[in-house]
Amino acid sequence: MFQNLSHLIKRFWFSLKPGKLSEEDLRWVESHLSEGEFLYWEKLSMADRHHSFQVAKQAESEIGEKGKEFIAAALLHDIGKLESGFGTFGRVFATLCCFLFPLRKMEKWSERTKGLRRRLVDYAKHPALGAELLIGIGSRQQVVTWVLEHHSEREKWETPIEIAEILSSSDND
Ligand SMILES: [Fe+2]
Repeated sequence: MFQNLSHLIKRFWFSLKPGKLSEEDLRWVESHLSEGEFLYWEKLSMADRHHSFQVAKQAESEIGEKGKEFIAAALLHDIGKLESGFGTFGRVFATLCCFLFPLRKMEKWSERTKGLRRRLVDYAKHPALGAELLIGIGSRQQVVTWVLEHHSEREKWETPIEIAEILSSSDND
């Protein structure tokens, strides 16, 4: 949990002033995604695009060219956050709520069709929402699987364990 927290603090500071990706970086991202995936990826906040790029680059250095679908999984792991539409400070608040309230409790709020609590539920459920979005645009099964399980416990991972470990540690660096 504390490792997770320090990762979130790092991401928070970074998200206040994210750098812009170069044309070359964007072409690299585009080359790993389908047209539909890239359209959604471009809608992510600058901080999320930058973060996903770093995770994917780090993963690529360990996975290599043979697992291209897993590079797409790294790029798209937080795509479900598009649904909650929080800015930087809203996300800090949402992250704290996720620490304080179990998802079961938050799910009771999901009967609400809009408002802050609805958005908090969407944020907490971003893996499932992301997977649903990707199924809708025909993403590869391995991509959908990792997006769905990227916050699950290790024992529940269906992604090949050596790949899942690389993806997970790249996300927490
Ligand atoms: Fe995530």
